[in-house]
Amino acid sequence: MGRLDGKVAIITGGTSGIGLETVKVFVEEGAKVMFCGRGQQVGEQIAESLGANCAFTMCDVNDEQQIKHVIDTTVDKWGQLDILFNNAGGMLGPFTVDQIKKEHLDSNFSLNFNSMVLATKHALPHLTKQPTSSIINNSSIAAKKAGFGAPLYSACKGAMDAFSRVAAMQLAPKGVRVNCVSPGATATPIFWSGSPGSARGATLTAVENAKKQKKVEANIVNNCTPLRVGRAGTGVDIARAVCFLASDESVWITGQDWTIDGGMTIFDAPNKGWMATQSQLIQFP
Ligand SMILES: NC(=O)c1ccc[n+]([C@@H]2O[C@H](COP(=O)([O-])OP(=O)(O)OC[C@H]3O[C@@H](n4cnc5c(N)ncnc54)[C@H](OP(=O)(O)O)[C@@H]3O)[C@@H](O)[C@H]2O)c1
Repeated sequence: MGRLDGKVAIITGGTSGIGLETVKVFVEEGAKVMFCGRGQQVGEQIAESLGANCAFTMCDVNDEQQIKHVIDTTVDKWGQLDILFNNAGGMLGPFTVDQIKKEHLDSNFSLNFNSMVLATKHALPHLTKQPTSSIINNSSIAAKKAGFGAPLYSACKGAMDAFSRVAAMQLAPKGVRVNCVSPGATATPIFWSGSPGSARGATLTAVENAKKQKKVEANIVNNCTPLRVGRAGTGVDIARAVCFLASDESVWITGQDWTIDGGMTIFDAPNKGWMATQSQLIQFP
């Protein structure tokens, strides 16, 4: 028996990284899963490889109508909606405060915050039909501490945290739970802007992606895993937690934000100096 038997789920950004691993875990656990992304060819291949309980709809989450189309298509196909994982997102930059322009505010919030709010809004009429349903938003440790992400990316994730708490309070009486997961550095194509639908991702071969993946994993193991667990966190580590929050096993949990980072943020260790460039390091006399 699967932990998500009888459930229908939508995962935004399921063509790569954390989203892709969550698609696989959800299907394994018995859910019917609709996932979206901009990378059509990759998305269709993934859906085909995972069988009849998995389907892909192309969607750019910057477009409200496309988000709504994913939700409508899911409910037309499977008749209900129990789980929404707002996962699509990415670090668009710029990486320093002084370089920010108005258009950067728009693009960052559109991808990392507005998309989550709009997917939630359009999913709600279906989610509230179930006795219990679950929304999980993919936040970040970058929302909690400086040093883990670009300024606007961190701000969008912080806004996501605040929105999720209020949504959890307002939707509890309707049986809809709302929680966040906050991954630490997790080895995915986010580190080289390589997701299939991105301009860069479309040009990379599988071999090039595999090389980059290895390099990022080594960097995480060597530089930012203070507990020295001997491996980097990967998408599946986040996917398992998301599966728990999606399932009825967590029915008494709402309004929470779950950090999943291999212990990265539990203490301030000297080896975190890797996060500053030489010129940023404070020189004490
Ligand atoms: N990896 C980490 O260290 C880390 C840490 C904290 C939080 N997170 C969060 O985890 C989530 C997933 O990131 P990841 O690490 O798995 O990155 P990833 O491998 O780059 O995957 C990003 C996913 O989002 C989709 N996506 C991006 N822009 C989209 C758009 N405009 N419309 C639709 N889909 C879009 C991509 O699909 P297409 O390319 O096909 O469009 C892809 O499936 C993000 O919200 C990220 O902020 C990641």
